[in-house]
Amino acid sequence: MSGTIQVCAACGSETPETDPHPRCPRCRGLLEVRHQPPAQGGNALRATFDARWGVRRGPFASGVWRYCEAVLPTAGEHILSYPEGNTPLLAHATVARWTGVQDVLLKHEGQNPTGSFKDRGMTVGVTQARRVRARAVACASTGNTAASLSAYAALAGLPALVLVPKGQVALGKLAQALAYGARTLLVRGNFDDCLELADQASDRLGVYLLNSVNPFRIEGQKTIVLELLQQLAWEPPDWIVLPAGNLGNTAAFGKALEEAREWGVIDRVPRLAAVQADGAAPFALSFRGGFAERRRVEPHTVASAISIGNPVSYDRAVRAIRSTNGVVTSVSDDDILEAKAVVDAAGIGCEPASAAALAGTRRLVQEGVVRPRDRVVAVLTGHLLKDPETVRHYHEQIEPPHSPPPARANRPIEIEARLTEVERAMRG
Ligand code: F0G
Repeated sequence: MSGTIQVCAACGSETPETDPHPRCPRCRGLLEVRHQPPAQGGNALRATFDARWGVRRGPFASGVWRYCEAVLPTAGEHILSYPEGNTPLLAHATVARWTGVQDVLLKHEGQNPTGSFKDRGMTVGVTQARRVRARAVACASTGNTAASLSAYAALAGLPALVLVPKGQVALGKLAQALAYGARTLLVRGNFDDCLELADQASDRLGVYLLNSVNPFRIEGQKTIVLELLQQLAWEPPDWIVLPAGNLGNTAAFGKALEEAREWGVIDRVPRLAAVQADGAAPFALSFRGGFAERRRVEPHTVASAISIGNPVSYDRAVRAIRSTNGVVTSVSDDDILEAKAVVDAAGIGCEPASAAALAGTRRLVQEGVVRPRDRVVAVLTGHLLKDPETVRHYHEQIEPPHSPPPARANRPIEIEARLTEVERAMRG
C-alpha cells in the first residue's frame, strides 16, 4: 500500500496519490502531497542519499530522484528523467563583496537541462502525468515553465499546450517552447490572465495542468534545498535567498525544510528570504502588513519571469515564511540589473529574476537583517541566455538612446576592418 496521499490545504479532504485533479476535487483548494515518513530518518536517510551521489545511470543519476523518498517514492517505472538537478554551488569573491556577505554561495539552477529550476518540478509533474494516463499537458507561464513543460512533454511523447503573455516572454524561453514543439498560445493579457485560462482549460478540456498549482511540481522543486544541504555536508546555511513570483518555489523550500527537520535530516532550519521586484511585489506587501491581507497588483518589472500580480501559492508560501522565521523583501529594477551585471561579469551569469536574489541579499544586509558573517545560499533560478534582449539593452543601450549608460555597461565598439582600429580600441 502506498504511504503517499494528497491533502487539501483548504478543506482537509484526502485523495489518493493517483487522483488526477490538480486541485481539490471537493473545494478546488490547493493540494499538498504528504508522504509517510521514511522508515529510517536522520543519519540513515542522509547515508542513503550520500550513497547515491555520483551514480551515473538510472533515476539516481538525477538530482531529483536521488531523493525519491522525499519526492515520490512510488513513481517506479513511470519516472521520466533527463536527468536534471546536480547543479553547482559556486563561490565568487566579487559577487560576495557586492552583496556585503563574505560567505555567499550561488546555487546555479540555470544549469538544468532547459536552463531553469523548473526542470526539477517538471520531471515529477510529467512522471505523474504518465501515472494518471493524461492525454495532454498544459501550463500558463512567464516562459521557463513553458520551456520546461515543452521539453519534458516531448521526451514523454505527450502533446503540450502553453499559454504565455504576448510580448512579455523573454526570447530564449519562447524559442524553446516553439522548438520543443508545444502548441504555443500568445495570450493578450498578463501571466495572471494566462493562469486563470489554463486552470479553466484543464477543467473543461481534460488536459493535465502542470503549473505549480499541481502539488507534484512542488515535490520536485524541494530537491533544490535537499541538494544544497547535501553539498554542504548537511550543515544548514543561515539563510536561503530566492526570487519569488508565483510562490511555488518559496512553498517548496518551506516544505522541504519542514520535512528535513521532521525526518532528522537537519537539526536546524535556515531562514528563507523571498525577494520580489518592486513592481510585482504583492507578497512583500502582504509580509509588511504581517500577512493580515492577501494583496494583488498589476505587475511591471524588467524581470519578466517574476512579473506576477496574484501568486497562486500564496497560502503555502505564507506557511513557508512563518515556519522558517523567514522574511520577504523587494528590490528595484535598477538593483536587479546591477546585480545581474555583477553576476554576469563574474563569468557565472543568470537571468534578471535570478539576480533579484542577490539584490535582495544586499538589501537585507544593508537593513541589518542578514549579518555580514552569516552563511547565505542564493538561488540563481535561470540561465543568462534565457533573456538575451535584456543583456543587449543594458550593454548596448538600445533605448532610451540619450540617457547615460549604466555604470557596468560593456559597450561593443564598431570598427572598420583595419588593424590600427583594433589597436586603438584595445588602448581605449
Ligand atoms: N526565477 C525564474 C527564473 C522563474 O522563471 C520563476 C518563475 C521564478 C524565479 C519564481 O518562482 O513562481 O515559484 O515564485 N517562473 C514561472 C514560469 C512563473 O512560468 O516560468 P515562483
